[in-house]
Parts: sequence; C-alpha cells; structure tokens
Amino acid sequence: MTTWDAETYGSRWSQIYDGLPWPGPDDAVSFLAKLAQGGEALELAIGTGRIAIPLVERGIEVHGIDSSPEMIAKLREKEGGERIPVTEGDISSFTVDRTYRLAFLVLNTIYALQDQEQQLACFASAAAAVEPGGHFVVEAFMPDPTRFRRNSWMQVHDMGLDHVLIEADKHDPSTQQILEQHLHFSQNGVKLYPAFLRYVWPSEMDLMARLCGMRLVERYGGWNGEPFNARSGNVVSVFRRDEA
Ligand SMILES: C[S@@+](CC[C@H](N)C(=O)[O-])C[C@H]1O[C@@H](n2cnc3c(N)ncnc32)[C@H](O)[C@@H]1O
Repeated sequence: MTTWDAETYGSRWSQIYDGLPWPGPDDAVSFLAKLAQGGEALELAIGTGRIAIPLVERGIEVHGIDSSPEMIAKLREKEGGERIPVTEGDISSFTVDRTYRLAFLVLNTIYALQDQEQQLACFASAAAAVEPGGHFVVEAFMPDPTRFRRNSWMQVHDMGLDHVLIEADKHDPSTQQILEQHLHFSQNGVKLYPAFLRYVWPSEMDLMARLCGMRLVERYGGWNGEPFNARSGNVVSVFRRDEA
C-alpha cells in the first residue's frame, strides 16, 4: 500500500466483505426504521447493502453514496440491491439536491475518513442532506487506546490446520490514527487486508455536529438502546438538525 484514499477500502475488501462475521442487521434496521418514521433515508458509505437492503424491505426508501465501484457492484448483484439509487462519491464532501428525514453512517465508517477536517466536512454534508428536525445517526466502536502496548497491538482472530488470520495494528495517539493489517496465511499464500482509521471521541463528534447545525439528542451503547457508559464498546449517536 503506497497511499490510502477513499477507494482503497473497497478495492481491498470487496471480494471478502460479505463473508465477514458482521453483526446481524436486524437491531440496526429496527432502530433506523423507527427514526425514519416512514420518510426517506440516505446511507453514507452504503457498501454492499448490509443495512440498506433490509431497511428497504421494512418499507423505507433508501438512497446511498459510496466511493467504491467494487462495493457498489456487489450491492447491485443482490436481490433488491439493484433498485437502490446509489451515487458513487466521497462522503467527506458530497451534496444532494434534496433533503432526507434520516441520514446514517454505520460500522465505524466515520473513522474511514482520514483526519478531523474530512470528518467535519462529512458532518457538514450530512447536515445539509437532512431536513430540519431530521436525524443523522453515527455508529462506531468506542476508541480504546489502552489496548495498545507501545502503540502496537496484535491478535490471532482465527486459526486452523491450514490457515491463520492475524491482525496487527499501529496506533498514533497524536493524530488518533490506526493502521491495521489483517494478514491471512494459508496454503495459497499470504493476503493482506489493510484498513487506515482515524477514530473520533464521542465528545468530538458532538462538537462537530454543533459546528454543523446539529446537536446530540440520544446516545446508546448499542442498537438496542443499551446505556452508554464506561464499559460500552460501541457508540450509537443520534444528532438532530436544528430547525431552520
Ligand atoms: C465497513 S464498510 C460499511 C458498509 C456498510 N455501511 C455496512 O454497514 O455494511 C465501509 C464502506 O465505506 C466506503 N467508504 C470508505 N471511505 C469512503 C469515502 N471517503 N467516501 C465514501 N465511501 C467510503 C467503502 O467503500 C465501504 O463500502
């Protein structure tokens, strides 16, 4: 990997993405359907439609944006996925010619934007895409710098007689960035699946929202309304766009 840009994630991960052990979509879909209240929704970084397709099945019209042609192609291959309007573009700077009741950005993807400027620009674009009184939902893991020792971390995620999956991370606390390598060793050789993240503290997200004409109205430790506290591994934040 020489440089990381908006398309790198999709080009590296799209072939294996749908086979990864992601949490089931039902809880997120119920949460988002309730907030959409029958209105239309925009998914930032829609990917292969893990959330969008079941949300459409719940009667919500969903539009999407994603920077990866490979991820969008996977969405298009799925039943129902071919009917979701998707724009190829960068969520750190997009405009839409209409507004939505709900915008959402899930599964840590706010962290896929590489610095605070890009993340703030994403909040500004999302605020402009949501109608006054509408909501922007962001779901991401709770940053935990304590897991790093000397700013490194390594773990065996899966192992069998013919394969091993190891994750190796480097952390830069001065920039809040993490470079991850997911190394898959098998009889067929070694494959590298990188990810480059910039994590955001919940309080920092709240400030970004305030700078963009939104404010935090709810925060949970999960999609089932679990309390958000010191033990939370996940953060679900609901921002409401100010009335005009
Ligand atoms: C972890 S996947 C999440 C996909 C989907 N939201 C889900 O929940 O399964 C991250 C997605 O973000 C997209 N992405 C990464 N950086 C992006 C950017 N700057 N602009 C638009 N999409 C981006 C990738 O192409 C990928 O589809």
